Amino acid sequence: MIDDIHVSLLWAMAENRVIGRGNTMPWKLHTDMQNFRKVTMGKPVIMGRRTFESIKKALPGRLNIVLTRDASFQAKGVQAVQTLDDAFEIAAAQCLIDGQDELFVIGGAEIYALTLPLADRLYLTKIHADIDGDTWFPEFDRGEWREASRIEVAASDKDSHAVSILLLTRMR
Ligand SMILES: NC(=O)c1ccc[n+]([C@@H]2O[C@H](COP(=O)([O-])OP(=O)(O)OC[C@H]3O[C@@H](n4cnc5c(N)ncnc54)[C@H](OP(=O)(O)O)[C@@H]3O)[C@@H](O)[C@H]2O)c1
Repeated sequence: MIDDIHVSLLWAMAENRVIGRGNTMPWKLHTDMQNFRKVTMGKPVIMGRRTFESIKKALPGRLNIVLTRDASFQAKGVQAVQTLDDAFEIAAAQCLIDGQDELFVIGGAEIYALTLPLADRLYLTKIHADIDGDTWFPEFDRGEWREASRIEVAASDKDSHAVSILLLTRMR
């Protein structure tokens, strides 16, 4: 937590920890996308510049904060920042304005690695398959986390793989 704001990481990951390939996600998970929209709506989202390039435009209904070392970076509908401290400060201020108590880190691998030590909630979609990729979620100690909820979603014409949608909270 920072300043009474929950720091939540949200991602989808294959059994072999893959989260991306060629700066995109190598699966189709409609149910997971709906879940992503529902849980992040109205809350600030923090992402790396490469993840922003992959999603191509700002996510509506949320303050979009993009981390980049490029001081000249600009994009429509996003707040660019050069440090994680600035990202958290802006997100926390927005939470205060909106009466929210949670910010989301939505990738990618570099930004997850930076923020994992500060996180107290993990929204993890576990994909029940090994999938080829070039980007992996950092290792973390599952023993430090309690499973608060789990939803099982079967593979279907809308979802390329069966998944478990988990909420993990840090044990103190
Ligand atoms: N499965 C999922 O849930 C999920 C979610 C999100 C993303 N992804 C995937 O993850 C991949 C992208 O991840 P990635 O690790 O390559 O990139 P990333 O974390 O999205 O972005 C990396 C960029 O963030 C900026 N950055 C990193 N550390 C910084 C720091 N300390 N201070 C300021 N700026 C910093 C740099 O931007 P500059 O180069 O502009 O300086 C860096 O190039 C893609 O394949 C994407 O599809 C998957």
